[in-house]
Amino acid sequence: MSVTQLRAGGAPSPLPRITADLLLQKKLGRHPITAITAYDYPTARLVDQAGIDMVLVGDSLGMVVLGYENTLPVTLDEMLHHTRAVARGLRHSFLVADMPYGSYHASAREATRNAIRFVKDAGAQAVKIEGGSTRASLVHRLTAAEVPVVGHIGLTPQSVHSMGGYRVQGKSLDAMDRLAADARALEDAGAIAIVLEGMPRELAARITAQSAVPTIGIGAGPDCDGQILVFHDLFNLTFSPPAKFSRQYADGAQFFSSALQRYRDDVAERRFPSDAESYHLPREVQSALAAARPRARQA
Ligand code: KIV
Repeated sequence: MSVTQLRAGGAPSPLPRITADLLLQKKLGRHPITAITAYDYPTARLVDQAGIDMVLVGDSLGMVVLGYENTLPVTLDEMLHHTRAVARGLRHSFLVADMPYGSYHASAREATRNAIRFVKDAGAQAVKIEGGSTRASLVHRLTAAEVPVVGHIGLTPQSVHSMGGYRVQGKSLDAMDRLAADARALEDAGAIAIVLEGMPRELAARITAQSAVPTIGIGAGPDCDGQILVFHDLFNLTFSPPAKFSRQYADGAQFFSSALQRYRDDVAERRFPSDAESYHLPREVQSALAAARPRARQA
């Protein structure tokens, strides 16, 4: 049993700890990489037990967990807090943490200090940053500081204002070439994987074929080396219509709502808690109480 398998409390995982090298081996062996987001300890436990390769503490946290309108307000402290919770739940999956908007934009020095916190204080095995060629020097710098970096190109939600909304990217020949060049620049700078979001299947296939590092797609078709979805999309927990690219595997909203309604009704009708769900006095205290009762009545 390795030390890393014992990182979280409880029983060790029967599966090995996923590393960046194992992700690369999966690409080379043409075994699809499975990835999903998680934001807290119980979901991390479930995802880990399901044998998912990669867990991303995405800044989608801001929208699906914290109720922000977009990902821009998410803070470094919020991301660190949730990354720590997820790290405590993982024994097997590779843990990537999203660097939030503003935490890597002002200066390379500040970005490096913030990235190191994800690894040193929060237990991440890599950080993810959005952007292509413009981020290459930062990827190089973080890699030199022993922080593995996952790139993220295409529809990058932190650029919602500069993109003019959440739009599929790379739909013209020029845009395709630009995104392919972005992927190459990230790879050359040392990125260990690249998320391809919101782009035509044909472009994602081209980037995947040209890349020596794994590509992880979301809204980028089936030809990427792996796929990632947002946990709350998978379980219909976003309170909004599903995107074209996502698939609901269970109706979590219906499941939780019906349980909550039954709980509310049981309390309102005094069906919960039952006697069996209650604590009782020890037998000898009950007897002493019963014996004292007639005396109390006489007095
Ligand atoms: O924040 C996030 O969840 C992401 C994924 C959509 C890749 O960046």
